[in-house]
Amino acid sequence: LNNGLAVTPPMGWNSWNIYGCNVDEDKIKQAADAAVSSGMKAAGYTYIVIDDCWQTSRAANGTIIADPAKFPSGIAALASYVHSKGLKFGLYTDAGYTTCAGRPGMFGHEVQDAATFAAWGVDYTKVDWCDHGTLDPQTRYSIIRDAIANSGRPMLFSICNWGVNKPWIWGPATGNIWRTTDDIFDFWDRVTWIIDQNAPLANFAGPTLGWNDADMLMVGNYGTGAVFGAGMTDTEYRSHMSMWAIMASPLIAGNNLASMNQATKDTLMNAEVIAVDQDALGKQGVLVSDVGGLQVYSKVLQTSGTRAIVLLNRTNASSNMTVNFASLGLSSTVAVRDLWAKANVGSFTTSYTTTVPSHGSVMLKLTGSEAATGAIVSGKTFRLS
Ligand code: GLA
Repeated sequence: LNNGLAVTPPMGWNSWNIYGCNVDEDKIKQAADAAVSSGMKAAGYTYIVIDDCWQTSRAANGTIIADPAKFPSGIAALASYVHSKGLKFGLYTDAGYTTCAGRPGMFGHEVQDAATFAAWGVDYTKVDWCDHGTLDPQTRYSIIRDAIANSGRPMLFSICNWGVNKPWIWGPATGNIWRTTDDIFDFWDRVTWIIDQNAPLANFAGPTLGWNDADMLMVGNYGTGAVFGAGMTDTEYRSHMSMWAIMASPLIAGNNLASMNQATKDTLMNAEVIAVDQDALGKQGVLVSDVGGLQVYSKVLQTSGTRAIVLLNRTNASSNMTVNFASLGLSSTVAVRDLWAKANVGSFTTSYTTTVPSHGSVMLKLTGSEAATGAIVSGKTFRLS
């Protein structure tokens, strides 16, 4: 949606992956406090979003009511607490009859709920797609878009309909971000399963369009969160982060910000990796080669002659991997910087080869000049519809 609210992919934190339905106002305040003290806010993570289970019922006049046991101060007070920390506030709802946890959905109350959210100080709304019966997603999300626009308060609009009816086609006219797949879980094969569906959609994302949402980050949960999965290794979480950044996905952390270990902080707050996600040109990276699970992804960056690269090793053994500069549309001499090592590696001719651990990734920034022939992008995985 070209409303100026997501000219780069949104960044923030959401309660679902770590707390699920077991969310309350103390946990949200703790997340806001920790976003500031941990450096997450300074790194760009701006939105604090309450996911499902904050709501219980509707009043006689239809107004949505927050759970008085879990949110005794009310949502408006919580929003203003989040705002007092210099952060923005997000709230979840559902376009259907009930949410995925069975709480009241928005159907039939779109205008009323948008007005309530605006009065509460909501800056971001994530709208799910559970219990929709025979409703049509494009129609329902368009109605909600208009209700938000007429509410008088800017709200980033996150369409969470799991790729149903190809939201990348109608999403740019409807919302700021749209989920492209079913939910992320806390295990490696789920991450690669999402990558394979989200990466071919690069065509549909951009600063005036919106972003393919590969779902929220699982980094730092180690199987202790509320959603399924035994957890991942730090190497796998780092590959997850590398891929979300090169795919220009929203970066919505889903871990406990108050208890992050150093590896989690280093993965979530690497400024140069975040800068790839947030690059102003707003081009989602694409798969340029795949040799038996040794994959090279390339993202064209705003500065002419530069690329971000992820070398992703999906095999079960460490392997050498090579990136060929001509396949990226770059001329033969290129300066290579390793973004996780935070080190300039040197200047190379034709190609660069390095070792990548199993399930690991090496993320590079290449600086050279544009070749006359232009970039070659992989046709076989590039979706046009
Ligand atoms: C769906 C969404 C998740 C989360 C839950 C809440 O599964 O895709 O991101 O919001 O609902 O119930």
